[in-house]
Amino acid sequence: MAQLWGGRFTKETDQLVYNFNASISFDQKFVKQDINGSIAHATMLGKTGIISPEEADKIVRELKSILNDVEEGNLEISSKYEDIHSFVEATLIDRIGDTGKKLHTGRSRNDQVALDMKMYTRDEVLATRQLVKELMLTLHNMMKDNLTTYMPGFTHLQKAQPVTFSHHIGAYMEMFKRDYSRLTDIYNRMNYCPLGAGALAGTTYPLDREMTASLLEFTGPTLNSMDSVSDRDYIIEFLSALATISMHLSRFSEEIIIWNSNEYQFIELDDAYSTGSSIMPQKKNPDIAELVRGKTGRVYGALMSILTTMKGIPLAYNKDMQEDKELTFDAIDTVKGCLALFKGMISTMSLNKERMRQSAALGYTNATDAADYLVKKGVPFRDAHGIIGRLVLYCIDNGKAIDDLTIKELKDISQVFDEDVYDAISIETCVLERGTIGAPSPDAMQKVIDINEELLKNLQ
Ligand code: ARG
Repeated sequence: MAQLWGGRFTKETDQLVYNFNASISFDQKFVKQDINGSIAHATMLGKTGIISPEEADKIVRELKSILNDVEEGNLEISSKYEDIHSFVEATLIDRIGDTGKKLHTGRSRNDQVALDMKMYTRDEVLATRQLVKELMLTLHNMMKDNLTTYMPGFTHLQKAQPVTFSHHIGAYMEMFKRDYSRLTDIYNRMNYCPLGAGALAGTTYPLDREMTASLLEFTGPTLNSMDSVSDRDYIIEFLSALATISMHLSRFSEEIIIWNSNEYQFIELDDAYSTGSSIMPQKKNPDIAELVRGKTGRVYGALMSILTTMKGIPLAYNKDMQEDKELTFDAIDTVKGCLALFKGMISTMSLNKERMRQSAALGYTNATDAADYLVKKGVPFRDAHGIIGRLVLYCIDNGKAIDDLTIKELKDISQVFDEDVYDAISIETCVLERGTIGAPSPDAMQKVIDINEELLKNLQ
């Protein structure tokens, strides 16, 4: 047991209490942020004359060497310390003696941990955003390559109207564009520095909070010391964004699993992204897509956990907040892993374009267009809907697609049909005619692709 606060106690902490209370097993993850925060704090203490410039230099130099030693594997983070803050401070004091004891002047572990967690989260927001961007680039290329890859569009998982693979992928592109911008928003909103808030009420030292904020590349200092040490909104926002990304990846996974099934065969996952069965030799399973779908649950769990933890906490810091870390770290690592794998999985899968096209043709996805054809010839839409309904029934009874019917069969149902109907209801025409922005025609899609191209060029 090694603690920073033994002075007013007359008894040793019970070992079980110590273990229950300690956070070093997980908060060592932000050793770098802790040391960099301390370097900024010490630099500011020196510049403001709260400690002497020589003392500040000595502290900064040693903190850098501690970080270096940890990163090089020459210094092990010992679990005998309560938390990472205690470990760093004790190591510093161990190495430079009394000068090291001045580091914590005008600081509390409450603003220190608020700072560390914020800096850690801030880096991870950017790392996640980068992975989202890479996935967007993959989707962009798939959209460009599949402007005339026809497939059925679905509602209620029933074939509805023909679309293209480009259009379908484009829907996910829009989701990830929103995810990207959500992460940017979170970064901008959270990027204020809590250091200097002290335990809850600021300090009596003339700290220069603007200086530490700018040394650590924050937009500025936070404006209320009680809020500074007890705000975890940015974690909730980030976990909410991660939960939304997971939800998008999960929906996409679900479609990939369906498309990859023996019944659909729209796509085939690459061998490198599939797994086999220990008993059934014929099997090639989409485990990766299933795992991405499955892991969504634990990401939602992390969000629910922190929301629940925070809901009854009075101001300012309470130890409950230590619970903000483990599940958050897990959710970040999980979503980053899923994003990276997903990109590999979809860029290596092969498309069975003929099968997709056939599926669109055989699913009466051109029934709306056939009704529109009659409308253009003067039939009121409601009547046209009825006529095509009867036509589809006839097709089902006879195992035919609408396009397969002879002109005689068509005319038997409505005299309005003419030879030009075949062209009007071909899959190509059905897609081509849907030309408003956001619809699947190649021209409309090209406009969206051009917009996305510009957007992707300008992303950080
Ligand atoms: N390990 C603590 C946490 O993660 C650090 C802050 C401790 N502060 C305190 N007053 N006990 O929240």
